[in-house]
Amino acid sequence: MNIEEAIITRRSIKHFDPDHKLNNDEINKLFSLAMLSPTAFNQQNWRFVVIDDPELRKTIRSHSWDQSQVTDASLFIVLCADLRAWERKPDRYWKNAPQEVIDFMLPAIDNYYRNKHQVQRDEAMRSCGIAAQSLMLSARSMGYDSCPMDGFDFDEVAKLINLPEDHVITMFISIGKAIRPVWPRPGQLNQKEVIIKNKFDIF
Ligand SMILES: Cc1cc2nc3c(=O)[nH]c(=O)nc-3n(C[C@H](O)[C@H](O)[C@H](O)COP(=O)(O)O)c2cc1C
Repeated sequence: MNIEEAIITRRSIKHFDPDHKLNNDEINKLFSLAMLSPTAFNQQNWRFVVIDDPELRKTIRSHSWDQSQVTDASLFIVLCADLRAWERKPDRYWKNAPQEVIDFMLPAIDNYYRNKHQVQRDEAMRSCGIAAQSLMLSARSMGYDSCPMDGFDFDEVAKLINLPEDHVITMFISIGKAIRPVWPRPGQLNQKEVIIKNKFDIF
């Protein structure tokens, strides 16, 4: 499947086959591909919390508007980010770069994020948004389906997964085999409304 086909055929699936399992090779492939997603300063701030305990899935579902994807997906991920990835040995993110690049990057990273909590949070959302799409398109290219989800109680789920104070939950990603066809796309906007040439109009 080429990228165009994966994009066109990816839909947010509401009902997965609860008996379907992904094997370890498939799971490794999905994460290897997702981890090639770009992140600012290569900080790789995503943290993929894989929930494979059926009881924990049931409890999470009870805090997720009873959405069946939580228990029935073959792979269920609470997509989190480390807000302090930028300061956790950032030399690791540039270890193969020439010395002059390292000398530029390390202070630049510090300057960009230190004491800037909104920037740290924005970066978490940017990185995880891109990684989420990589996961979903990779799943599609492997013949699987997915659903991104934010219909859940973030505080309750944070407690259930022991989310550290300096991490955030961005969304769930559920991946599996669809068992029911999805409805047609419910209402796409026109390009005219969403593509802005050069500047917004002043009203
Ligand atoms: C951040 C985010 C959160 C979403 N949360 C849910 C959710 O909790 N449950 C659900 O069934 N779909 C959820 N969706 C799926 C959207 O409803 C869906 O992407 C949208 O209706 C477009 O449909 P499509 O993805 O099939 O093209 C979410 C999508 C995104 C991007």
